[in-house]
Amino acid sequence: MNSDTMQPSIHDPEHASRSPFAADVRIGLNRPQKRLNCKYFYDERGAALFDRICELPEYYLTRTEMQIMSRYREQMAAAIGPRAVLVELGSGSAVKTRLLLESLAAPAAYVPVDIAAEQLEHVARHIAADHPHLDVAPVCADFTRPFRLPQLRYPSARRVLYFPGSTIGNFSPRQAARFLRQLASIAGPGGALLIGVDLDKDPAVLHAAYNDTEGVTAEFNLNILHRINRELGGTFDPNDFRHYAFYNPRHGRVEMHLVSRREQSVQAAGTHFRFRAGESIFTESSYKHDLNAFVSLADAAGFTLTHVWTDPRRWFSVQLYSTASPADPGSVHHAETAER
Ligand code: AVJ
Repeated sequence: MNSDTMQPSIHDPEHASRSPFAADVRIGLNRPQKRLNCKYFYDERGAALFDRICELPEYYLTRTEMQIMSRYREQMAAAIGPRAVLVELGSGSAVKTRLLLESLAAPAAYVPVDIAAEQLEHVARHIAADHPHLDVAPVCADFTRPFRLPQLRYPSARRVLYFPGSTIGNFSPRQAARFLRQLASIAGPGGALLIGVDLDKDPAVLHAAYNDTEGVTAEFNLNILHRINRELGGTFDPNDFRHYAFYNPRHGRVEMHLVSRREQSVQAAGTHFRFRAGESIFTESSYKHDLNAFVSLADAAGFTLTHVWTDPRRWFSVQLYSTASPADPGSVHHAETAER
């Protein structure tokens, strides 16, 4: 575990105020449109709230992706081939991964990468117990920053990046393009990417999915304020903010905000922040993609589409890409050199 991902303790205010979280909070809340990065939702409570979101009747994403995985995992495993190293970005509770691991032929290793340390350890322990011949090598890291892959026990055929859950939806198209290029380089020659991508649909369906009647999504959104209070000595009263989520058609994304219910001044990470009544903190974007447009985006990053699996309503997709093999003259490396 590196220092970036260690949870600063409240008994160590010096460390807390110098942490990347503190720096991001100071910068984000000083912008004209206040922002907080959605990766900070996932402390222990946030990860648990997200797991509850996945069970909500309105939140179709997880259920639909699970259906696609259970229905097509044998096809996916066949396309991936034997002795793969499965690197999962944002492993969370890894429910879908278990299905995939059961179908893969003699996988060489499973490398779950996540910032939620407690959940990561739990998942790694359980998967290792269920797969005694699998090298389970967890990495506690923020996968949006460069991280090192661990040394593995067995030789492998190819690296397969698994990026489920439409986490890619949190990136703008420009950030997604950049991130996919990084993934192509992590996958390496002859590698693959298996990615879950949420698709365009009726905004009414989207609205319901991010405004559930039980208020779990609201709690999940507000949890970031609780976390700032706990870890960065914040003075937020979460009752003074309201969850606001809507589909923005111009950008093709669901936006989540926390809207200040009144004019107020709050302290966090050693700084004062003022809020006007009705002023918002933009906490998350969840882009919904057109299938062909996404394929072009991935293609430009060096990934060639090999399969698309979807549900009957075409609400969600799981897509398999490969990077060029080492002997291929049209390899990613050459393509990048040609661009310069
Ligand atoms: C985990 C990023 C896919 O955007 O749907 C759920 C997170 N936010 N409800 C999503 C989330 C609000 C989720 N992702």
